[in-house]
Amino acid sequence: MDVAALLEQARAAIAATANSADLDRIETEYLGRKGSVTALRRTLGSAAPEDRPRLGQAINDAAKQVEQWIAARKADLTAGEGAARLAAQTLDVTLPGAPLRLGRTHPLSATIQRVQQIMTGLGFEIHEFPDIEYFKYNFEALNYPEEHPAFDEQMSFFVKDTVDRCVMRTQTTAFQGRLLETHKPPFRFATIGRCYRYEAVDATHGHTFHQVDGFAVGEGISMADLRGTLQAFVDQMFGSDTIVRFRPDFFPFVEPGAEISISWPIDGKPRWLELGGAGLVHPNILEAYGIDSERYTGFAFGLGLERMPMIQYGIPDLRLLWENDLRFLEQF
Ligand code: DAH
Repeated sequence: MDVAALLEQARAAIAATANSADLDRIETEYLGRKGSVTALRRTLGSAAPEDRPRLGQAINDAAKQVEQWIAARKADLTAGEGAARLAAQTLDVTLPGAPLRLGRTHPLSATIQRVQQIMTGLGFEIHEFPDIEYFKYNFEALNYPEEHPAFDEQMSFFVKDTVDRCVMRTQTTAFQGRLLETHKPPFRFATIGRCYRYEAVDATHGHTFHQVDGFAVGEGISMADLRGTLQAFVDQMFGSDTIVRFRPDFFPFVEPGAEISISWPIDGKPRWLELGGAGLVHPNILEAYGIDSERYTGFAFGLGLERMPMIQYGIPDLRLLWENDLRFLEQF
């Protein structure tokens, strides 16, 4: 191949490259150690001696020319590739974004937080205890006589193979014995937690639910303190001037005992809705822990937490609070 043909071929090949990898290959093909320009130089030896300087000069010029074309093409290609990369990376900031789903507080969690706030504001110290409870604290320490029918209201899940009989806590009231072992009156304690009962599940009964219990012992504590405390609680939870109704009820750990309901309008008509139980701490409990029941008295109450949002929002079925159906939860 003569110099002119080689130049013509190289020019076309360089112009046809599509990217820098192509171009690198062409560069080796022409200027590399085994390339066409080098091959052409080797033919110098067989040329007539008088032709060699002119031919040598022409090959050198051609090599330079090819180098220049390659450099120019390289500049073009990298600029183009940069632009392509930039275009691929470009973000149209005016496009609407992908919607971000916002979480929210579950109505039950919101209730727990609110109850914590109110109880703390009323001077109660909040304590937490395990969901698996010794039979001793769940019942015996709460003045349940053996074989007493009061057990029937608290059908229990027993935990197998525990050293002392254990149950899934049936009532947060179980915290009384635990605290009486370590604290002397006066005190105001509260606890919020899950409770479990072997119950058939329906719109108003769950095998798992939450309670808040309050427990106050001191000198001169009376039913008036209990009523005032519960009134302050429901005023904050359900709005001021909510009417609280006390009716006699039986719980082994209080004497007298009461059932607590509030008046709440349903379809425009006031109705009594039950919140839980309460009473004055039974002297047997205080005496069992070495507290002089002539000097100290106390009150206790236990309220169902699920009841609260059910009343406030008119939720007809307890199970809605547990199913985590977004169509339900998104309404809060
Ligand atoms: N623990 C009782 C229950 O689950 C409710 C209760 C009643 C709690 C009276 C109390 C109380 O602290 O004094 O049915």
